[in-house]
Amino acid sequence: MKFELQYNDSQSNARAGLITTDHGQIETPIFMPVGTQGAVKAVHMPELEKDIQAQIILGNTYHLYLRPGLDILRQAGGLHKFNSWNKPILTDSGGFQVFSLAHNRKLTEEGAIFRSHVDGSKHIFTPENVMDIERTIGADIMMAFDECTPGDAEYSYAKKSLDLTERWLDRCITRFNETECEYGYKQALFPIVQGCVYPDLRKRAAENIASKEAEGNAIGGLAVGEPTEKMYEMIEVVNEILPKDKPRYLMGVGTPANILEAIERGVDMFDCIMPTRNGRNGQLFTRRGILNMRNKKWANDFNPIDAEGTSFVDTLYSKAYLRHLFIVNEILALQIASIHNLAFYLWLVKEARKHIIAGDYSNWKRSIIDDVTRRL
Ligand code: GUN
Repeated sequence: MKFELQYNDSQSNARAGLITTDHGQIETPIFMPVGTQGAVKAVHMPELEKDIQAQIILGNTYHLYLRPGLDILRQAGGLHKFNSWNKPILTDSGGFQVFSLAHNRKLTEEGAIFRSHVDGSKHIFTPENVMDIERTIGADIMMAFDECTPGDAEYSYAKKSLDLTERWLDRCITRFNETECEYGYKQALFPIVQGCVYPDLRKRAAENIASKEAEGNAIGGLAVGEPTEKMYEMIEVVNEILPKDKPRYLMGVGTPANILEAIERGVDMFDCIMPTRNGRNGQLFTRRGILNMRNKKWANDFNPIDAEGTSFVDTLYSKAYLRHLFIVNEILALQIASIHNLAFYLWLVKEARKHIIAGDYSNWKRSIIDDVTRRL
């Protein structure tokens, strides 16, 4: 993997760059649609690629390890071949999901012991076997195995948790260096900065990770219950230290406003379930604000879903029609909303990149942030 830093905004820490992987290039800043179980829910790969213009998608180690399992992924020749997405893929390491989904979970020095949320079977994730699993899934970018510290953790817990994540990182790096991709291309490993809302822990974590000289670095443990201002403060502390010549990935964030603020603070990559999950619940993000499509006020609004939208769904269908589909529980409603929201998120980061290159990012952000946050 290669990262070329192409533009630095002169008035902020915003950057534009280019990541090159063996499955193609990614222009940053970028939003990565979430395909937890190997599919971005309700969206076909050609729609993702051509209409939404996604450049990289996510998969999840926890889910893919449980189902379809490693044998089938290996027989398929890796996730790219299995799901027919031939562009870059990033896999989250599963620690986060073990703690949000699995049953009877227990953390030890060795790893995380848990029972599957699917059938109750018992498993252990260790830094070593998570690296092996991510090798078998075959993502272009593999995430280190970490503990995502809760946003409301006490200092003493956050410190102990960070100590463990740091020891796990060293074991991840050792295993990563001892192994190689099973399918003949290159994979990169991104470490994850933890440290909760404590600046000294975040600083220490970022310094430790900077010393590893990984191909890219991630910021985790944010948007997990802490105040938004704390999140921005932690991003600033961490990005002071993380190498400028490597991509920075803010995990699991966020709203359009969160993304614009984080870009201004030097973040390059984002993922979040918000556009797809909230879309399936009837929430649409647009340039002019946020719409609840179940609301009666759209019942006879025959204007396009989003006259300024970039996706084919935006002008093909009316708000009244989409509202009707939600009210009668048609599957098409979920497809339309997911495609629209993802296209909007990809438009937002592309526009951000344009303004970074044009040198007016902060002005543009100020001009748009209230609009994208407004409830319509
Ligand atoms: N997704 C959102 N936040 C996190 C995190 O802190 N760690 C991991 N592994 N995944 C995440």
